[in-house]
Amino acid sequence: MSTLLHTRELTAFYGDAQALFGIDFGLDAGEVVAVIGANGAGKSTFLKSLTGLVKAPREAIAFKGEPIGGLPPGEIVRRGIAMVPEGRRLFPSLSVEENLLMGANARRPGPWTLDRLYAMFPILSDKRRHPGTSLSGGQQQMVAIGRALMSNPELLLCDELSLGLAPIVIREIYAALPKIAEEGMTVVVVEQDVATAQRVSDRVVCFQEGRVSLQGKSGEFTREQISAAYFGV
Ligand SMILES: Nc1ncnc2c1ncn2[C@@H]1O[C@H](COP(=O)(O)OP(=O)(O)OP(=O)(O)O)[C@@H](O)[C@H]1O
Ligand SMILES: [Mg+2]
Repeated sequence: MSTLLHTRELTAFYGDAQALFGIDFGLDAGEVVAVIGANGAGKSTFLKSLTGLVKAPREAIAFKGEPIGGLPPGEIVRRGIAMVPEGRRLFPSLSVEENLLMGANARRPGPWTLDRLYAMFPILSDKRRHPGTSLSGGQQQMVAIGRALMSNPELLLCDELSLGLAPIVIREIYAALPKIAEEGMTVVVVEQDVATAQRVSDRVVCFQEGRVSLQGKSGEFTREQISAAYFGV
């Protein structure tokens, strides 16, 4: 496998407050990696650094061998990294289909089209003319995933897909992941629920107070090791 992305000593700040303290992280093409960790551990900040929403030193992030730290978010999407943001953030005045098409603004060549998305999430086809925000939480999450896929990324970053959803809906959402990964997509999911994180990923990385506290193959850790890495107890 080849390295798709790596970070070296990645730091991030909000004003004077430091949120990430030297993250060394590597991602091979085709992997599904789960990022876990407590509230405020820096998971979202890490994804935002990769997508240019939080400034990063240029050399701290390399994607396909090129430094991309601190590039404008639109440029990073064009290079092939797309994000499903925490809280879904649909455009409230737009229909389901218009929301999906927003993701195609940075359209790159690749397999994902409206038809392909509607085949994966048929309910979105039924509701294509409805306002995106009139959908259930799970359906809105499907729209948010679809919008990110419409740019045909090579790397898909998902921030807390489970947030506020019932367990059965969470399973339904995660059931799409193998279909997305099928054609070699590399995926990072931020997931608070450790059991879900281990179930859906090849590898887990735990963040604690802006640092990586544990990483390795998803099946390899006991609950005790993970809670120690989570809370530092
Ligand atoms: N916009 C912001 N301004 C100032 N500080 C922020 C901002 N966003 C996050 N932080 C701080 O940065 C740190 C990391 O936050 P981050 O949102 O990355 O954590 P997280 O792991 O995603 O948490 P959660 O599980 O609650 O989503 C926290 O201390 C948080 O308070
Ligand atoms: Mg977060």
